[in-house]
Amino acid sequence: MQVFIAADAAEAADKAADIVENVVRSRPRPRLGVATGSTMVGVYQSLVDRCQAGGLSFAETSIYLLDEYVGLDSNHPQAFRNVIRADLADLVDLRDDAVFGPDGSSPDLEAEAQRYEQLVTEACIDIQLLGIGSNGHIAFNEPGTSFEGLSSVVTLSERTRRDNARFFASIDDVPRQAITQGIGTILQARAILLVALGAHKARPICDALIGPVSIETPASAIRLHPDVSVVLDAEAASQLPAARSES
Ligand code: GLP
Repeated sequence: MQVFIAADAAEAADKAADIVENVVRSRPRPRLGVATGSTMVGVYQSLVDRCQAGGLSFAETSIYLLDEYVGLDSNHPQAFRNVIRADLADLVDLRDDAVFGPDGSSPDLEAEAQRYEQLVTEACIDIQLLGIGSNGHIAFNEPGTSFEGLSSVVTLSERTRRDNARFFASIDDVPRQAITQGIGTILQARAILLVALGAHKARPICDALIGPVSIETPASAIRLHPDVSVVLDAEAASQLPAARSES
C-alpha cells in the first residue's frame, strides 16, 4: 500500500487525479470505478480541468458507480448517477453511454443488484475510487458487512443518513436503502484508490489503515488488496503515528 499525505485538500485532489490520469493514459479502454461524496468533488474537478485544458481524454473511458440510493426519482439531483454526470461525466469527453450504475428505482431491486454485479465483474475495473464514511464504511457497506459480499440492497445506518442529510432538505428525505457494490466486488478491481480529507476522517482512517482488519471497519478490507493507494490531507492523516511524530 502506498500512502500519500498532502498538505491540504487541493494537493490531495491533484495527487489523486494524477493516479487516475495515469490509469486513463495507460489502458486502451479504461474502466474507472467512481465514488460520490464531497471528497471526490475536487478530484473530479482536477480531472475536468486537465480534460478541458486538452491534455487528457476520456473518450475511451467507461465509468461505473459504486452505489446508488433506492427510491429517488431518476431526475433527483442527489441520485448518484446525476451527481457523477454533474461533477464529471458531462464536463469531459466521456461518451454518453459510458456511464453505468445500479438503478435504484427498479421494481425488482434484488435482481437489479445482481445485474449490476455481473456488469461490474465483466467490466474488470482498472481503478476503483473510494471515499470513507465516518463509521469506516466504503460504498454503502456499513460496519458488520462481510468482506466477501457482492452487490446487494442494503439498509443505511442512521449515522450514514445523518452524515448525508446535508445533501437533502431534511433527514427525512434521505433514502433508507441503497444498492451498493459489495466489498468482495470492490476488491476485484485491479487497483484501489482511497481518498480521505478532513479531521472528521482521521479516526476512520486510523482504524482502516492500522487497526485490526475487521468487518467492524469495512475500509480495513483494502489491506487485503495487492495494489492500493491512499491519498490523505494532513488533517485526515493526523492520527496516524507517522503523521503525529512529524508534527
Ligand atoms: C457516502 C458514499 C460513499 C462515500 C462516503 C463519504 O456514504 N456512499 O461512497 O465514500 O459517503 O462521503 P464524503 O466524501 O462526502 O465524506
